[in-house]
Amino acid sequence: MKIFVDTANLDEIKELSESGLIDGVTTNPSLVSKSNISFLELIREICLTTKGPVSAEVTAENFSDMIKEANILRKISDNIAVKVPLTADGLKCCKVLSDEDTMVNVTLCFSANQALLAAKAGATFISPFIGRLDDIGIDGMELISDILIIYDNYGFKTEVLAASIRHPMHVLEAAKIGADVATLPPKIIKQLYHHPLTEKGLKSFLDDWKKSGQKIK
Ligand code: E4P
Repeated sequence: MKIFVDTANLDEIKELSESGLIDGVTTNPSLVSKSNISFLELIREICLTTKGPVSAEVTAENFSDMIKEANILRKISDNIAVKVPLTADGLKCCKVLSDEDTMVNVTLCFSANQALLAAKAGATFISPFIGRLDDIGIDGMELISDILIIYDNYGFKTEVLAASIRHPMHVLEAAKIGADVATLPPKIIKQLYHHPLTEKGLKSFLDDWKKSGQKIK
């Protein structure tokens, strides 16, 4: 499963990219609103830091304005994935952009039928929001499974990008059922490294090593 980082914080993106484990970046208008750099400058900087897809979202709601914004965003770099909302205008925009070989991430997906339409519109990524469904008592992971089945039935190439991930169990479940990508807030990426037995085991190895007086040199 590919791991994208879900943030507009440049320092965090740079730090995590150094691990070599990050395959892309997703941003959204709420995340960008926390940054004090201008949106286009921020996206340019992120694209310099990351080779993988960088999702940058349009904020227009009608087709022609979405296309105008998408044209500005996709000029920034070849690794831009224009992010459009799952609306009729958003999918119309998705179809035009994907026909012109621009990557498109269709966001705010909450049903398998919406995901079917996004795949038919040629989306590169579909972003079902797991956490926001869980929040209202609907099993977000079941949506990921349904979409994977439907895409497999018809051979759609659209990648299922598990979004709105709230904790490491979401990551584990998404990986077990075969989501293509998960986009994770930096805090959750850092949580994935930790296990108390790793920390305890390492401490005891190093204590024993110190006592032995051995050195690697
Ligand atoms: C995905 O691209 C979105 O940016 C994100 O995962 C939304 O997550 P949230 O529900 O925690 O805001």
